[in-house]
Order: sequence, then structure tokens, then C-alpha cells
Amino acid sequence: MHITIYTKVKVIAAFLLTYLFSYTAAADKVEVLHWWTSKGSEEKAIGSLKSDLAKRGIGWQDMPIVGGGGGNSTTVLRARVSGGNPPTSAALLGYAITDWAKTEGALANLNDIAEKQNWAGIIPKALQKFSKHNGNWVAAPIDFHSTNWVWINKSALDATGGKVPSTWEELVTVLDAMKANGIIPLGHGGEAWQEMTIFDSIFLSLGDDFYQSAFIDLDPKALGGAKMLEAFNRMAKLRTYVDDDFSGRDWNIVVSMVTDGKAGMQIMGDWAKGVILNAGKEADKDFVCIRFPGTQGAITFNSGQFVMFKSDNAEQQAMQKEMASSIMSEKVQFNFNIHKGSIPARTDMSGDNFDSCGQKAIKDLAQADADGRLYGSMAHGHAAPGEYQSIVYDVVTAHFNGEMTSEEAVEELVASIEDAKKL
Ligand code: BGC
Repeated sequence: MHITIYTKVKVIAAFLLTYLFSYTAAADKVEVLHWWTSKGSEEKAIGSLKSDLAKRGIGWQDMPIVGGGGGNSTTVLRARVSGGNPPTSAALLGYAITDWAKTEGALANLNDIAEKQNWAGIIPKALQKFSKHNGNWVAAPIDFHSTNWVWINKSALDATGGKVPSTWEELVTVLDAMKANGIIPLGHGGEAWQEMTIFDSIFLSLGDDFYQSAFIDLDPKALGGAKMLEAFNRMAKLRTYVDDDFSGRDWNIVVSMVTDGKAGMQIMGDWAKGVILNAGKEADKDFVCIRFPGTQGAITFNSGQFVMFKSDNAEQQAMQKEMASSIMSEKVQFNFNIHKGSIPARTDMSGDNFDSCGQKAIKDLAQADADGRLYGSMAHGHAAPGEYQSIVYDVVTAHFNGEMTSEEAVEELVASIEDAKKL
């Protein structure tokens, strides 16, 4: 993986944190590993689970690992488990859940609580693919995110004439106008996962079939075809709208640049909205949310799900069940997602108290699900297993940083994915 010095420092810090505070689960507490550390939004979201557990008589040992996208958290989790000291529970994304589920004896079975709360009837099928393994429930989803969003500063958009872009060409026109108006057109943080989040959207905008065959089926023809070259060319075009200091910038700093009007827009999952709302901004008045032009009606999704690590301790087992039940309760699903910017991972809840972007997200999910247009996000671990995801990360970030041309990126991607298939 393309790792900057900045990222390395963050990973080392994460490790230090783990070992300094290495902790063995106590009888009255759950120890929870996650990466939701953004002040205000993510911290409040995870706080709503913590306070619901407190009402159920369960204490909370927090194990937050800094690093957007969850990469550092996954690394620390691996170290904890191989050191024989797994946490009670950890938040994971997509194929990382499947990997742990395949690890003999690692995860607790949540079938009885799933049955009691009718998870099969309320969790979107696209998420159940990851919550279940070999027919058994192994994870409880706490949110439903989509990554194909653009968050636009309303005044900055108005200053360009106010037309919301609905095609690639219109997006480029707005970005050019923002540049002419003297602001950074595209706010961006130079980390592989953030670059990949933009790439998800570009990919989907080139067609559902293309996204499906290249990213989910890993078909070499699609991976090496003309649309792939176009995708890299569009990435290179977007690179021209980013400021010089983007390298290593955290995603939530970028959100502040957009809310402050320093940058015009950000292409990012809806956790960005949690930060925008927490800054006291209002949808439609201060900012506009749109689906990345060309992806209207379709969704690239990801979802944080909690797995429980198997324990011999009966009290720990009981608390794990209670925690799973709390995660899937309407109350926690509502409070968590209101702060996080996402929507509930249950399809039976009303969207009435969500802001207009949240209501749109709930409608979009129902529609995309009915139309068969829900696709797992490659950036956030739901399109293909980790070994393929890291290849795409490497190539996309190297290309974005000018280390290869679009033609070289396409070639490298096809060759590395074909090599990985042979392993
Ligand atoms: C996660 C979100 C998180 C974001 C930033 C995504 O991969 O699904 O829950 O807010 O990364 O860390």
C-alpha cells in the first residue's frame, strides 16, 4: 500500500495507544474498538451507544483508534487478537467481517438475538451479506452510509450561478467557475482511502454495469477497457482542482474547509454531513447535498457493523448479546445516525426527524434497493475482498499523486489483479 510518512506516524501512534492501554475485559464492561473519533459528530454517535448500554447496566471501555476509513483500527485489531487479547467487540467494514468470520472460533454467534429482533426482516439484504456467514449472524450493523455524495457550499455554488451540476460536464463547469472565483474548487485530503472514495463515484458515474463488472466481478475486460481509462482521466482532471497542501489532510478538516467557504465542495461519504450539521449548518440553506453527477438513482454503500469476539466468560457473553440488541434498537439506530450523518441500518424506521439530505438518503436506499442499484463501495471494503481493495488503493493513489499516467494505471491494475487471483 502507498503509505505516506504521515500515515505511518498515525499507525505507530495507534499501536502505542493499544499497548499502553492494553486491557482485559472486566465483568461489568464491554471493551469496544472503533475509529469514530471525529469531535462532535462521530464521538456523539458512538456516545449514544455507550449511554444506552449504561442504562442497561453495562459499562464501556473505549478503544478509539485514530485514522479515517478504519485502516489503522483494522491493523490494531489484528495485533490484539493475535496477541491473545481480543476486545469484547469491534466495528468493522464489509469483507473485513467476512475475513474474521472465516477465522475459526473468532466470532460469537448472534443467531438468538437476531431471531428475537427479526434482523432478517429489517436489515437491508445488501448488508445481510456481511452480517451473516454460512447462514449464521456474526455482526450487527449500526449505520448505512453511501459514498457517492458531493457536499457543496451553498454560497460558493450561488457565486457560480447556482446551477446544481447533474452531469460530469456541468460539474467541471462549476469547478472552473469556483476556481475563477478564487477559492479551492475541490477540498480533498491526500490519503489513499479518500482518493478511493472519489474514484468510487467516478466509477459508478460511468455506468452500473461497469461498476459491477470491474469492481465487484473483477472482470479483466472491464478493468482494462476504455471506461477504465476514462475513469483515470477524470481523476487526473479532478486533481487539478485540489490545493497544494492536500497531502495527509484528515477528511474532517476538509469538511471544515467547505463549511468555511475556503473550498467549494467535497466528494465524500455522508459521515461528512455529521460534521457539517455539528458545525450548526443547515441543509439547503448553507450547503447542498447531491449525488455525484451521473450516479443519480444508484448507491455505493458501506456500513459499520459490530462483531463480538468469542469469550468463555458467561457475563461477557451476556453483555455481548445485550450490546447487539442495543445496536439494533430503534433508539440507538436513530441517535447514532442523526449524529453520524448516515441513516439507520433498518428499513422499518421513519425518516421524519432526519434533515432533508437524510430523508433523501432514506428514499434513495429504498429506490436503489427496489431497482437493484445498490453497490458495495470499493473504497470502504464492500466491493471486493481486502487483497483486491489494497491493489486498487495503491494504483489510484499513485496515479493521483502523479506517479503514473492513466494508461500505466490501467495496465498496472489489470496485471496486479490478475496476479492476485492466482494466489
Ligand atoms: C466509515 C465511516 C467513517 C469514515 C471516516 C468510513 O469507512 O464507514 O463510519 O465515519 O470512514 O472514518
